[in-house]
Amino acid sequence: MKLLTHSPEETQALGEALGKAAQPGDLFLLWGELGAGKTCLVQGIARGLGVRDTVRSPTFVIVTHHPGRLTLYHIDLYRLDNPLEVLDLGLDEYIEGGGVCVVEWADKAMPLFPLEHLVVELRHVGEQERQIMLTAFGARYVELVAQVRQQMGLE
Ligand SMILES: Nc1ncnc2c1ncn2[C@@H]1O[C@H](COP(=O)(O)OP(=O)(O)O)[C@@H](O)[C@H]1O
Ligand SMILES: [Mg+2]
Repeated sequence: MKLLTHSPEETQALGEALGKAAQPGDLFLLWGELGAGKTCLVQGIARGLGVRDTVRSPTFVIVTHHPGRLTLYHIDLYRLDNPLEVLDLGLDEYIEGGGVCVVEWADKAMPLFPLEHLVVELRHVGEQERQIMLTAFGARYVELVAQVRQQMGLE
């Protein structure tokens, strides 16, 4: 699934649809350079999950959690020096514990994540335009993308 957003609000609306469709144990891996809109998307996901806290890019901590309908684990690998550090995050515990994990800068450590996940790739195509592509790896995420399309009125 590919779409073009024209404002931060539109990117958040996509995030909100993802948050509403999210199920316990989901893993969303976000790719995209600085300013692509990853944190903006996570803010929408938080809203869709009924999270009340403010979500921002964590400065020093790598993982922040936010209680909601499901707990959102917001992981930002921007400051990761060694991809192997991902193995120390305890990601499996969050996934098995029924949380929803959303990882910014996931492209830094792709081989270390579980095989089943959703990739969300964000690209700058203009000052306010972002091309966003969702790619499902595994049946669960094929279903999720279908739900998101439906919620966004794309079919
Ligand atoms: N269509 C859009 N989608 C998302 N962000 C946008 C869009 N247009 C402009 N922006 C701006 O781009 C910036 C994206 O920042 P952020 O979400 O923190 O990016 P990242 O986390 O990928 O570094 C914000 O300042 C936001 O207002
Ligand atoms: Mg960010």
